Amino acid sequence: MTDEELLDAARDVREKAYCPYSGFHVGAAIVDENDQVHVGCNVENAAYPQGSCAEAGAIAAMIAAGGTRIVTIAVAGGGENKTRACTPCGGCRQRIHEFADENTRIIVKDDDEDWHTFTMDDLLPSSFHL
Ligand code: THU
Repeated sequence: MTDEELLDAARDVREKAYCPYSGFHVGAAIVDENDQVHVGCNVENAAYPQGSCAEAGAIAAMIAAGGTRIVTIAVAGGGENKTRACTPCGGCRQRIHEFADENTRIIVKDDDEDWHTFTMDDLLPSSFHL
């Protein structure tokens, strides 16, 4: 699985986002330690706090499929037709951290359609863990 293929998977699943309240479409694609790909999109709800993020969906799919480690996660978010910078929200940084290590890469699309790669420590320094 190349980065380009993973980024395409994030972009593709972004089109499935259910986001009538925010209009902000997000797709996430994970490659796990078995080289398997798992995708998720945001799914909103009329009771707003019940909505879930794309990263949460992709993580749930990974765990359900038997994966345990995030090697790389790509996130693409933005309006219906155009992506913009969308680094994972605070809650999702902690969710990703649960299944990440020092080699995990988080790839995010920016306003100019370029991609930037972060480590877990870039996004969640001095993180909480048990
Ligand atoms: N969202 C995600 O799916 N992932 C993030 O990391 C940031 C935010 C979703 C949640 C909500 O459906 C919409 O984007 C606007 O916040």
